[in-house]
Amino acid sequence: MSDNTNKPLLSIRKLSAGTESKPILHDIDLDVFSGETHVLMGPNGAGKSTLGHVVMGDPVYKISHGSICFDGADITAEAADKRSLAGIFLSYQAPVEVPGVPLYSFLRTITQMRPELKTTARKFRTRVGEICEQLDMDQGFLTRELNVGFSGGEKKKVEMLQLLLLQPKLAILDETDSGLDVDALSVVSRGIEAYRKDCDGALLMITHNTRILERLDVDSTHVMVKGHLVAKGPASMIDDIDKNGFGQFEALLDKSEAANQGGEDA
Ligand SMILES: Nc1ncnc2c1ncn2[C@@H]1O[C@H](COP(=O)(O)OP(=O)(O)OP(=O)(O)O)[C@@H](O)[C@H]1O
Ligand SMILES: [Mg+2]
Repeated sequence: MSDNTNKPLLSIRKLSAGTESKPILHDIDLDVFSGETHVLMGPNGAGKSTLGHVVMGDPVYKISHGSICFDGADITAEAADKRSLAGIFLSYQAPVEVPGVPLYSFLRTITQMRPELKTTARKFRTRVGEICEQLDMDQGFLTRELNVGFSGGEKKKVEMLQLLLLQPKLAILDETDSGLDVDALSVVSRGIEAYRKDCDGALLMITHNTRILERLDVDSTHVMVKGHLVAKGPASMIDDIDKNGFGQFEALLDKSEAANQGGEDA
């Protein structure tokens, strides 16, 4: 449920960003309030994952213009670890493998780093066990090296395990549904639903698949084309995209670019 009486939890203003050599995001404005669920859609290569990484503070990307505020603070120049501690979580489209670090130790470390989540070893073990059960995940995974040799679907479940353990204020889920079989999809959907209900966290879901959204009350849908957010609408816009594709939105961008060009030429 959204609470629009307060300030946005995440407020992005006039943000342009990219790699050293390639501008990717242009003039992005986005507000997400606590407890809201936003969906970000767009064609392949539009810049959706880049936006997630830029909000998380991935140093690969440089911000050339604009600002990002989170929970009342300007975090535009903050490092990723500070943003994580402030309550931003990004589940990666392609989770990284970390040889030599057992999953359980990793989870314990990231939890202990948060003063509000610090707990005894016993309580922690119990909580992890509960979440594994919730996610239909074999606890044998906990002793394996983080993501090493995990299947695509198993890696996505590990991301969900982190989400439910950390209970961030804002979760950006980048194609958390991709590569999941039908049963895993419903387990992960239930996990996301639990996150939303248990801690009233805000969600920014990047997805190409509308099934994952069926259990969620979507507040806003955004469409990104060529690094621009070109449309914002209600949940019903997702069905429209499903039926009619992104052509209509690409046309919108072409039109606005042509209008700008006309203005410059005049
Ligand atoms: N580190 C990078 N170096 C070079 N180019 C990059 C980098 N990251 C992103 N890009 C480019 O920026 C564009 C946007 O990529 P991004 O991964 O954000 O797209 P996306 O909308 O998430 O696409 P998809 O739906 O396929 O996941 C692409 O052309 C991509 O090749
Ligand atoms: Mg992507």
